[in-house]
Amino acid sequence: MFKEDTLSNKTILVTGGGSGLGLSMAKGFARTGANVAICGRTEEKLLKAVEEIKAIHSSVNVRSYICDVRDHDAVSEMITKMVSDFGSIEGLVNNAAGNFLSASEDLSPGGFKAVVDIVLQGSFNCTHAFGNYLIAQKKEGSILNIVTTYAENTGCAFVLPSACAKSGVLTMTKSLAYEWAEYGIRVNAIAPGPFPTEGAWQRLMPDKSFEQMYLDKIPMKRYGEHKELVNLAIFLMSDLAPYLTGESVVIDGGERLQAGQFNFLNNLMPREQLKQAFKMLKSKK
Ligand code: HXC
Ligand code: NAP
Repeated sequence: MFKEDTLSNKTILVTGGGSGLGLSMAKGFARTGANVAICGRTEEKLLKAVEEIKAIHSSVNVRSYICDVRDHDAVSEMITKMVSDFGSIEGLVNNAAGNFLSASEDLSPGGFKAVVDIVLQGSFNCTHAFGNYLIAQKKEGSILNIVTTYAENTGCAFVLPSACAKSGVLTMTKSLAYEWAEYGIRVNAIAPGPFPTEGAWQRLMPDKSFEQMYLDKIPMKRYGEHKELVNLAIFLMSDLAPYLTGESVVIDGGERLQAGQFNFLNNLMPREQLKQAFKMLKSKK
């Protein structure tokens, strides 16, 4: 879909790039010519990921940084170290996240804080450090925030800390897109539906029997493929989208549209049976 040099003039930091969707995006950025930095809390995971990313494109620079995005000072130090390692940074993907299923009445203050600190405070910390670097250097750049479909309108039961934090990140996306446009900094978001990853499935899929129920909510009847999200991320981070800012692109096979009043009929019975029912209604007129 993209040329090998689509991102060749860029160094991009992917937080939480050691696994899941972050690693897939980091690989996609490297495949299209970007130098890539990933960060996370687990050294072993990061080192393995760096080897996998390097294997994709021999001439791009790939590095990892052990950093907890909740720690503003550690994030600032990482950005300073990255500038010295790579020479410059042009892109940031706020992908690191925490989430778990819990009845909200059972949440401890620490559980709420852990997720909000990773998702909202962490995205702020990285954005703040990267934005200040760009502004001081009079450089243009691009920020991409990975949110969720429940961040925009509905909120979400049983993942209250994540729903609150992701809504905050979406609001940060729009606020900064406007405020930092004059510096040439674009800020966008991707809101994915379900894309299988070990991290998400381990925490959000109670057991195998839930799989079919999750799939039934998606009109396309399948999960997203990582490459589908990666292509969107490459486009948003590239110079192909210079006038695109403050946008959140949903990629969910139509899952978010479930609320349509008669949409439930789709899963109620086979299509032919449904058509028969509609015909009977027509003949009653
Ligand atoms: C209730 C829980 C809990 C659980 C932890 N806590 N797990 N509460 N149910 N399952 C509480 C603890 O009791 C503690 O509160 C507080 O959270 C911090 O827990 P720690 O384990 O000490 O914290 P930490 O090591 O920082 O772990 C953070 C974490 C963990 C978020 C809890 O799950 C994590 O590291 N996650 C990172 C990866 C991840 O979550 N990936 C999924 C992203 S998927 P107290 O009060 O006792 O101190 C995603 C998809 C969304 O976002 C959409 C899908 C379609
Ligand atoms: P994942 O594999 O669990 O990835 C999360 C990554 O974040 C891990 O590499 C983790 O590494 C890192 N991380 C967690 N806490 C961190 C911290 N405090 N500091 C630095 N790094 C931290 O999950 P995923 O499914 O790929 O999710 C990626 C993004 O997509 C998240 O923003 C998630 O909310 C979003 N999303 C996913 C789905 C889905 O279906 N998968 C749907 C909607 C939205 P360490 O634990 O080693 O630090």
